[in-house]
Parts: sequence; structure tokens; C-alpha cells
Amino acid sequence: MSVRQSIRRLCFASSVAVAALTPAASVHASSGWSYKEIADALHAIMESDRTVYTRLVVNRLQNEEKVIKASEHWKDEKALPLPAQMFRYGAEMVAEKNAGFTYSLLSLWPVNKQNAPKTPVEKEGLEAVAKNPGQPFYKEETLGGKKYFTAVYPDKAVAKACIACHNDHKDSPRRDFKMGDVMGGVVVRIPMK
Ligand code: HEC
Repeated sequence: MSVRQSIRRLCFASSVAVAALTPAASVHASSGWSYKEIADALHAIMESDRTVYTRLVVNRLQNEEKVIKASEHWKDEKALPLPAQMFRYGAEMVAEKNAGFTYSLLSLWPVNKQNAPKTPVEKEGLEAVAKNPGQPFYKEETLGGKKYFTAVYPDKAVAKACIACHNDHKDSPRRDFKMGDVMGGVVVRIPMK
């Protein structure tokens, strides 16, 4: 995808994201978009941002131009944060803003225990996308008396670096990831009226 295409896609998806920030009922009524379509659009932005950061920043500066590496201990090592860390920092900032929806990158085999599933629907969704990577998982869940639309999208080992780092990581509970395996999933949660 060209940069122009990604920007156009981002602008389009951002306008959808803005719609998602208004109270859930009007989102549905005024936008005419289903919760599934909103979740898919939000996920498209997240996935695109992560891919752009991985390709244009980490892969280019670390592997091609060998200027700076990416490291989990980026602060101490004056390195770039890992893509999964960037993703989590963004998600934490959105959560602080009470933006009307939340998201996270989770796994049944997390390197960072903070990224383990916390609700039965998250666990069910991660298991479903691990079994059937071609199909995102959608389900309504009730948390603290409120209803949410929860979507889970598979996160696959698309590069050797994914499996090499996770299989060797001292905190990884799983060491047999192969190329193409589902390593986890992106969870998008939207409050419902
Ligand atoms: C250099 C090591 C490294 C590489 C390369 C790497 N990861 Fe990770 N990954 C991590 C670390 C460390 C975390 C925990 C980040 C955090 O603090 O939330 C993580 C987190 C994740 C998570 C959330 C669950 C967990 O394990 O905590 C998923 C899913 C994930 N990575 C998938 C991938 C995929 C897919 C790729 C390749 C596109 C990849 N990773 C590349 C180190 C790596």
C-alpha cells in the first residue's frame, strides 16, 4: 500500500472513529454503521499504524540502515520501542481519554502477563481466532452491568523476527511458534446502548 493510500485510509477510518466517540446509540442511528463495521474500521487504523511503524521505522532503521535498534528496554538502551509496546502505549492513552471504546493486543501465551485475557469473552475470542485465523470473532459481553460489543482479530507471525523473539524470550510461556501461527489477537471493545 502506498503512503498516500494509507493516509486516505486513515482519514476515512478516523472519521468513523470520531463517530464512535459520540454516545453509542447515536453512533448506530446516525452513522448507519453496525458495531461490527465500526470495530472493523477501528481495527483497520490500528493494524495500519502498527504496520507503518514496523516497516518505515523499525525495519528500515534497524535492519536496512542499521542506525538504531528496537528493544523492549528502549529507555535504558536509547533504542526504539517495539511495535507491541507502541501499540500498548497508544491503547493506554486512549483508555485514559475515556474515548468511548478500548482496545488491546492480547495473547493466550503472553510475554507480558498484562497482555493475558481478562474476561471469558476475550479468552473465547483468542481461542477462536487461533483455531480459525481467517475469521475475526465478534460477541456481546456484559461487564459491570454494561453491555459491550467485543471483536477479536488474529495477530499472526508474519516475519521470522516475531517467532525468533517470542520463542527465545525469557518470559514467554510458549516456545514453538512457527511462521504463520496466530500469536495473539487485537481486542476492540465498544459500549452498546
Ligand atoms: C524483539 C522482540 C520482539 C519481536 C521482534 C516481536 N515481539 Fe511481540 N512482543 C515482544 C514483547 C517484549 C512483548 C510485550 C510488550 C508489552 O510490554 O506489552 C510483545 C507482545 C506481543 C503480543 C501481545 C502478547 C504478549 O506476548 O505480551 C503479541 C500478540 C505479539 N507480541 C506478537 C508479535 C508479532 C506478530 C510479531 C511480529 C510481527 C512480534 N510480536 C514481534 C517482543 C517481540
